[in-house]
Parts: sequence; structure tokens; C-alpha cells
Amino acid sequence: MPIDYALLARQLEALLDGRDWLTNSAQTCAFIMQEIPDLNWVGFYLQRQPEVLSLGPFQGKPACHPIPFAKGVCGAAARTQQTQRVDDVHAVADHIACDAASNAELVVPISVNGHLWGVLDLDSPVKGRFNAADQAGIEALVAVFIERTDLA
Ligand code: SME
Repeated sequence: MPIDYALLARQLEALLDGRDWLTNSAQTCAFIMQEIPDLNWVGFYLQRQPEVLSLGPFQGKPACHPIPFAKGVCGAAARTQQTQRVDDVHAVADHIACDAASNAELVVPISVNGHLWGVLDLDSPVKGRFNAADQAGIEALVAVFIERTDLA
């Protein structure tokens, strides 16, 4: 059955009832892990110093930290401020393998007034897990997170 992302967006809006970034990012990745099937890792990387992503709240196994903008799928999302959707991470030369179980990846940048705050990273053990509808749906969830959170 296709995922009802419009319903998930309304549920996430209800869940994020304060504006604190730490609480909201923890709730958002827990919600996505709970509601979307076939994921093995969901989490935030934050830009806390120039050109470097620091591991933030996440669900899943301990992960790679730090990640320079120059490397990996997350780095590409940070550099370009464009969503990165990868069907097979093993085909990406500079993919950073945190967990050998991960095969597909979706990374959505989170920007405020053109400035990159961080990224939301989803990993799946299923090759080709994320299609265009998943990308649009997850981007809509990230839009809810941005709209309901104070991101300094
Ligand atoms: N695979 C990512 C690194 C982060 S982990 O998947 C949690 C990348 O290539 O940027």
C-alpha cells in the first residue's frame, strides 16, 4: 500500500507542538522511523561549523561523525542544497558506509534563508527503496519540521 504522506505531514504537525530544534528533530526522526517501512537509519546532521556536518538526533546504529561537505551523499546534499536520492549507495564512489546493511539513501537539505542548517538522512536496506513520491513526501515532512521549528 502506498504511504499516505499527506496524513503523515498532518500527524507530524500535531507532534511538533513546541519550537525547540532539539526536541523537534528527535521527534521527527523517531516518527519517520516508526511510520515509514524498510528503513534502518534516520537522522539529522547539523552544520555547527563551516563546511562540516555534525551528527545530531537519530534512530538506528551509531553513525559516522563528522562528515565534511566534500564527502559522501550527505556532503553532496549540503554542498548543492539539493535532495540526493540514491538507489544503490555502492554505486556512489565516495559514499560513506556507516552500516553495511544500507543500500539506498535519501538526503534532504534543511536551509533557512539560503543558509544550510543541516540535512535529514534516511537509509534503507532495500535497493531502490525511495521513488519520486517518497522524495516529495519526505521533503514535505522536512518542510513541516522547518515551519514548526526555530532554526537559528
Ligand atoms: N551514507 C552517508 C553517511 C551517513 S550514514 O548513512 C548515517 C553518506 O554517504 O553521506
